Amino acid sequence: MLAAYAARLDPDDPLAALRVDDLELPAPPSGWVPVEVRAAALNHHDVWSLRGVGLPAERLPMILGCDAAGTTEDGRAVIVHAVIRDPSFTGPDETLDPRRSLLSERHQGTLAERVWVPPANLIDKPAELTFAEAACLPTAWLTAYRMLFTSSGLRPGETVLVQGAGGGVATALIMLGRHAGLRVWVTSRDPERGERAVELGADRAFPSGERLPERVDAVMETVGAATWSHSINALRPGGTVVICGTTSGAEPESAELTKIFFRPLRVQGSTMGTAEELRRLAAMLVTTGIRPPIDRVLPLGEASEGFAAMIDGTVFGKIVIEP
Ligand SMILES: NC(=O)c1ccc[n+]([C@@H]2O[C@H](COP(=O)([O-])OP(=O)(O)OC[C@H]3O[C@@H](n4cnc5c(N)ncnc54)[C@H](OP(=O)(O)O)[C@@H]3O)[C@@H](O)[C@H]2O)c1
Repeated sequence: MLAAYAARLDPDDPLAALRVDDLELPAPPSGWVPVEVRAAALNHHDVWSLRGVGLPAERLPMILGCDAAGTTEDGRAVIVHAVIRDPSFTGPDETLDPRRSLLSERHQGTLAERVWVPPANLIDKPAELTFAEAACLPTAWLTAYRMLFTSSGLRPGETVLVQGAGGGVATALIMLGRHAGLRVWVTSRDPERGERAVELGADRAFPSGERLPERVDAVMETVGAATWSHSINALRPGGTVVICGTTSGAEPESAELTKIFFRPLRVQGSTMGTAEELRRLAAMLVTTGIRPPIDRVLPLGEASEGFAAMIDGTVFGKIVIEP
């Protein structure tokens, strides 16, 4: 079947490691069910995989993609939850399973005509969402939902700073935060992307690194090294930084340890979310009417165009791939 996959790993030129071609797969684990992919979405995770981060060479070839919406053999419209728990894990929160993986890490991903998953990883797609909209939810939007509503401790009326304006997680944070009654401030390297963030619902946009008019209750970090010091400086005493990613690198010039204990701040890691959170997120989109901004929709055969845009950092919202 046609698939976009990592044929090799290339830390410096991830696009060169991508192949879009027919690929025969080994049999899926017993009990897993096929989903015909109607739409999939790209994440920065797919670029990390091509660079070899979290994907060792012995697992190649590996179909990329964490996100999909599609139909099961009996015609059920579903959204695929990308967090695969280890069979030995019995806790209620799969993000706490130390042996969990995401689709495309140990098991073949979603950028293909079909993907196989455990039945517990399927949730019903609300009829109000298109397959393309639903495909945007399982990684970036779910991560944003958990950062805001599970990890941050934010309450309606408080102020949140979102670092970066255009990424999939950043755009989700802006729209979900706005609809939850938060005052949302964003930073961007590009004034035009800042303006687009305001159109999505942010109250104000600031150039990356600029001093803010007042300190904020929480910061949502996906950028990492480039914005870490600004995030710590932006927080009020007792505030929280929630971090889920390090697009610009994982080693900031300063860890800001003194400010973290003296002010005293809370640093909270956050990763993906549970299937139950994915259900609630889909329900929130139905009740609020908000929809993921889609930068572009590409046929699977042209997936490399989407990867190139993601690597260049020129994407605003999600890139959807249709097999
Ligand atoms: N832990 C998890 O479960 C999880 C889930 C999803 C994503 N992530 C991670 O979160 C990060 C974001 O992912 P994404 O898919 O939303 O897309 P992305 O393409 O990584 O988004 C890039 C974002 O970072 C900003 N940015 C990039 N480089 C920057 C720099 N040098 N200085 C300042 N801002 C910079 C961009 O904002 P502007 O262009 O507006 O400045 C944009 O908002 C990735 O690292 C990803 O791996 C983690």
